[in-house]
Amino acid sequence: MQGRKILFGVTGGIAAFKAAQWVRSLVKEEARVTVVMTRAATRFVSELSFAALSGRPVYVEIFSDDPRQVMSHITLAAEADALLIAPATAHTIARLAHGLADDLLTTTVLAAAGKPVVVCPAMNSGMFTHPATQDNLRRLRELGYVVVEPDSGALACGAEGPGRLPEWDVVRETLLSCFAPDDLQNQHILVTAGPTREPIDPARYLSNRSSGKMGYALARTARRRGAQVSLVSGPVALEPPPGVELFRVNTAREMHEQVMRLREQASIIIKAAAVADFRPARSETRKIKKSSGPQAIDLVANVDILAELGRKRRPGQILVGFAAESHDHESEGARKLHDKNLDLIVVNDICGRETGFAADTNQVTLIDKSGRVELPLLSKEQTAERIWDHVVSLLNE
Ligand code: CTP
Repeated sequence: MQGRKILFGVTGGIAAFKAAQWVRSLVKEEARVTVVMTRAATRFVSELSFAALSGRPVYVEIFSDDPRQVMSHITLAAEADALLIAPATAHTIARLAHGLADDLLTTTVLAAAGKPVVVCPAMNSGMFTHPATQDNLRRLRELGYVVVEPDSGALACGAEGPGRLPEWDVVRETLLSCFAPDDLQNQHILVTAGPTREPIDPARYLSNRSSGKMGYALARTARRRGAQVSLVSGPVALEPPPGVELFRVNTAREMHEQVMRLREQASIIIKAAAVADFRPARSETRKIKKSSGPQAIDLVANVDILAELGRKRRPGQILVGFAAESHDHESEGARKLHDKNLDLIVVNDICGRETGFAADTNQVTLIDKSGRVELPLLSKEQTAERIWDHVVSLLNE
């Protein structure tokens, strides 16, 4: 969001107070937010609140005696990278659907023709499901507006049903996808993430320190770039990325089963999961008691899911693996690229303080048949973007 210029339109619904929090979140991410309110919106939250949160003047009136603001709808529209209208009332949606321009916000939206406009309807569910509102939303989509579906649940008016503003993460992703390239559109991407847990008894398991952050960042950024994404995830403490189909698994065997079910339809498979190589030969149904003394645990090998994908891959399917290494990084990465029949391997050092399992940053080397590229230390999301750039270049070859 850094440096993005967002024109934030607020209209007169009770959810306007949530818009205040969203402005704050955008500003925290260093976006430049300019708020335009309808008159009705100022009855719910004051201009002063939005001015304080955005750190910028708030605009309401279309007519002004101030010569600097006479053409504000034109300058506001010209300056914006994207427009976000939240909450959008039934009335404003109707006005936009018909191209009306009777206040500063609607006039600015018309003047911003060609720029991305994200509309977040929020209202009573009767108003939302009314055929007139639904017709207007259809029209908005035809005109190229991005409409974010409201959530269902308890509404401020006491009713239950669709009409709640969605979570900020969903709207944030929608906005970010307006700025992202859509070079993964028409791709169906299968991502695996997180650790697996191999049960010893009902209380204990063998696992590893994978946090899932790298895989989730890959899923989130692929979705942003237009892909349809299936994410097979081991147990992690992360929120599912919006718009991604999530399949939760625990053991390597469950991950194997799920990946084999999904592999055919995927055009790109990327295996960021840290799959346990071994599992206890027996998983006890009753808790092992300490009175029975220290025990040796017999292990058996899990199937190497990635190697099996490499053997079964269909022509044109892109296969990307990860190599978690503590030493001999590049030779080990190159060996796995060859042995597992991959297009690309992402090698990372699991021992670095800023590149290990739970870190928010990563420093990886990409190795493919034509050579290697060492990326700098980046956030896991930026690393994911660079991996996708590389995959897109493989697709174009
Ligand atoms: N992988 C997998 N199934 C396994 C083990 C690993 O699909 N049973 C995948 C991982 O998701 C990763 C890649 O293989 O994409 C490499 O994993 P890594 O743990 O680095 O290597 P291993 O193949 O386990 O080899 P080694 O133990 O020699 O490092």
